[in-house]
Amino acid sequence: MNLEETKIKLQSMLKPERYVHSLGVAQSSFDLAQKYGYDPQRAYYVGLLHDCAKNIPKQEQIEICNQNGIELDEIELITSGLIHAKTGFIVARDEFGLTDPELLNAIFYHATGRENMTLIEKIVYVSDMIEPSRKFDNLEELRKEAFVDLDRALLMTMNLVLKFNIDKNSILHPATLLARNYLLRTTTERYKHRKINS
Ligand SMILES: [Fe+2]
Ligand SMILES: [Fe+2]
Repeated sequence: MNLEETKIKLQSMLKPERYVHSLGVAQSSFDLAQKYGYDPQRAYYVGLLHDCAKNIPKQEQIEICNQNGIELDEIELITSGLIHAKTGFIVARDEFGLTDPELLNAIFYHATGRENMTLIEKIVYVSDMIEPSRKFDNLEELRKEAFVDLDRALLMTMNLVLKFNIDKNSILHPATLLARNYLLRTTTERYKHRKINS
């Protein structure tokens, strides 16, 4: 399936605003890949597909994961926004023919993050937040930081996600907390003299 065919198929599976978001994440992933030395075409492709399962009904997603031996934890089952990352891994593999394990993992972990993320996992996670159609307060600082220091932008993104969920009284997924702790443990020296906020 070439890129045009992929886009047509993806567009048919997503709500219009989700498709626009996907094109934005693809472009931001492309740009960050150029900046940080990852193959921009591969980054574009995985950015494009990262939410491919987002508009599949939750029950159907649970079935897809069950059929493919992917375990879902309690928090994924009771919240609504996380399962699509795991379902997306399966849909990208089985319906779009994506075989590259590094790219598949970037989809699999894009909703929660994880400890010791790979470069492409960081690129997709941050792009998901900074892509041009996102509208949040204070996104400009994060958009800038993404092209200065990817790890710091990753930390800022996790902070935003966690704060957003706290403000909504939503359940936090421990994988994001572990990912953030890992990042702080491994980068504290570098950021000792820099203020980390938002
Ligand atoms: Fe997503
Ligand atoms: Fe997304």
